[in-house]
Order: sequence, then structure tokens, then C-alpha cells
Amino acid sequence: MLETGIDIIEVKRIEKSIENPVFVKKYFHPVEIEYSKHSAQAAQHFAVRFAAKEAVRKVLLSYIDNLSWRDSWIENDANGKPYLHFSEEVHKKIKIQYSSVSVSHTNQTAIAIVIIDIDGDANSRQ
Ligand SMILES: CC(C)(COP(=O)(O)OP(=O)(O)OC[C@H]1O[C@@H](n2cnc3c(N)ncnc32)[C@H](O)[C@@H]1OP(=O)(O)O)[C@@H](O)C(=O)NCCC(=O)NCCS
Repeated sequence: MLETGIDIIEVKRIEKSIENPVFVKKYFHPVEIEYSKHSAQAAQHFAVRFAAKEAVRKVLLSYIDNLSWRDSWIENDANGKPYLHFSEEVHKKIKIQYSSVSVSHTNQTAIAIVIIDIDGDANSRQ
């Protein structure tokens, strides 16, 4: 089943939270932390990755009951293009044939859209 998820968030919602290392570690994969924390637009990078996790949740929570914030994350290739990654726990529960993510951010807003192709249908919860 080919599914779409989308999420938009205010960058300022995340700006304060990322000052707290406990929050950062709880929500973000080490790859995302490393990519985002050194940037002058750190809050935008973190915010859009948070939006991507919410977008993934909109799709995967119809298929699996428990999804942690670190079960999906974004990695960027050498050109900067973002790719979705999923934890072993997710791969054990569902078969993902294909996934794609696109993100955009401004000083105020971050938006992410994901496309995920999953074997089976939304009723086949694990
Ligand atoms: C890539 C590009 C379209 C981003 O657009 P933008 O308006 O500057 O910024 P946006 O906020 O809309 O998007 C930023 C996101 O684009 C994504 N992005 C970067 N390069 C990308 C690419 N080659 N393909 C797809 N998405 C890309 C990233 O995920 C980035 O967010 P992140 O750094 O937090 O991960 C723009 O920088 C561009 O046209 N660059 C020149 C072309 C280019 O980079 N070509 C590939 C390298 S040869």
C-alpha cells in the first residue's frame, strides 16, 4: 500500500527544546543531531526532522502500535538530498518496499512530506 504523510511545524516550537540535550537525544537520531547542531539554522534542521517523524507516524501508526521517535530518521546524501531510514524494530514488524521524503524550511516554518510503500494494508497491524 502506497501511503502519504505530511506535517508542518513552527520552528520556534522546537527552538527552545533543542537547548535541552535530553530532548535532543530522545527525539533525534545521532546522524540527525550531527547534521543539524553545527548549522547556523540548527532549529530549522531539527524542526523539519521532527516534522518528518510526525509525517512518518501518520503513515506507520496504522500498521504498527508502538513507534518511538528514533524509529525513523533522515540522512542526507552528498548532494544534500534527504532519505528516510527506519530502525530494525520497524523492519521486523513491516516490510517497507520504498520510501521517500521531501522537506522545506524557513525561519518560521518547517514542512515534511513522506511517501512510504508498505506490504499489506492498514488493517494488518503487528
Ligand atoms: C536543494 C534546494 C532545492 C533546496 O531548496 P531551498 O529553497 O534552498 O531550501 P528548502 O528549505 O526548500 O529545502 C531545504 C532542504 O532541501 C533538501 N535538499 C537539499 N539538497 C537536495 C537535493 N539535491 N535534492 C532534494 N532535496 C534536497 C534538504 O533536505 C534541505 O533540508 P535539510 O538541509 O534540513 O535536510 C536548493 O538548495 C538548490 O536548488 N540547490 C542547488 C541545486 C543542487 O543542490 N543540486 C544538487 C547538488 S549538485
